[in-house]
Order: sequence, then C-alpha cells, then structure tokens
Amino acid sequence: MAEWHEGLSVGNAALDDDHKAFYRACLLLSEVGNEGLHQSIVQTAILLLKDYLTGHIFREESAMRRAQVPDLEEHVNQHVKFEILLRSLISEYESGNLGALNNLVVVAKGWQDSHIAEMDLKYKNLIVDADVDPRPLGLLAAELYEGPDTDPMTVVQ
Ligand SMILES: [Fe+2]
Ligand SMILES: [Fe+2]
Repeated sequence: MAEWHEGLSVGNAALDDDHKAFYRACLLLSEVGNEGLHQSIVQTAILLLKDYLTGHIFREESAMRRAQVPDLEEHVNQHVKFEILLRSLISEYESGNLGALNNLVVVAKGWQDSHIAEMDLKYKNLIVDADVDPRPLGLLAAELYEGPDTDPMTVVQ
C-alpha cells in the first residue's frame, strides 16, 4: 500500500491532512491484514475512515462549491458511490465478516489511485485557502455527526 507524497498535494493543508489520514488508515489496515487481526488497530483505522467519509467529503465538496470548480457533479457522484461502498464494507466487517477487511483495503487502494491521485488533483490551483474549512478532521466529523449539515463558513446575507 502506497504512502502519501508531495506529488499528491492539492495545495491546501487541511485537505492534504485529510488525504494523509486516509493513506495512513489504509496502510494500517493493509499491514494488519498481513500480520493477522489486531482489533484495536483495525478499529482505530476504521474510525479514521469514517471521519474521512464524513468530514473530508464535506470539507472538500464545500470548498469546491465555494470555488465553483467545474465538474463538481461528477466529483460528488464519485464521493457518493465510494461512501456507499466503503460504509457497506465497514458494516459487513463490524457485523462479523472479517473477510470484508480485504475487500475494504482493495477498494481503498483503488480510491487512492483513481480518485485522490487524479480527480482531487483537478481542483488544485482552483481553490484558495479561504475556500476551505480549516478545522481538524476529527473535530469537523464530530460536529457533523452531532448535528445537521451546517456550513459555518457560509456567509449569510
Ligand atoms: Fe474528492
Ligand atoms: Fe479528497
């Protein structure tokens, strides 16, 4: 499983940190897969993936909307499909199908190559820092878990 590198930078620290967290979680899961199951490590990585799905996707789509990047609909569609697939694999694993972990790693690796390394890089240079909610991933996700989808950076006129 690959590690995040500077060539994947989208030019914003918060979005890059989210992607780094995703790569870290995938790496953990792939290593655990090789070494046998270590429940607490798997659970930590899965929590990170859930935060990524909730917090990162919200942060990224909000920023792209603010910056009015083209092809937003296609990008969002990829997020929706990925989120459905990953959440279903996570719940399969959590309901006792340990084999779902291997599928999850394969799907996550595909996401790194086809989405983060291609689709996400398309908005590099199109968004500026002011478009991006800078809160840490865990905090952003926790707030979204608690309440309705509110965007604190939206200016009410
Ligand atoms: Fe994306
Ligand atoms: Fe992304």
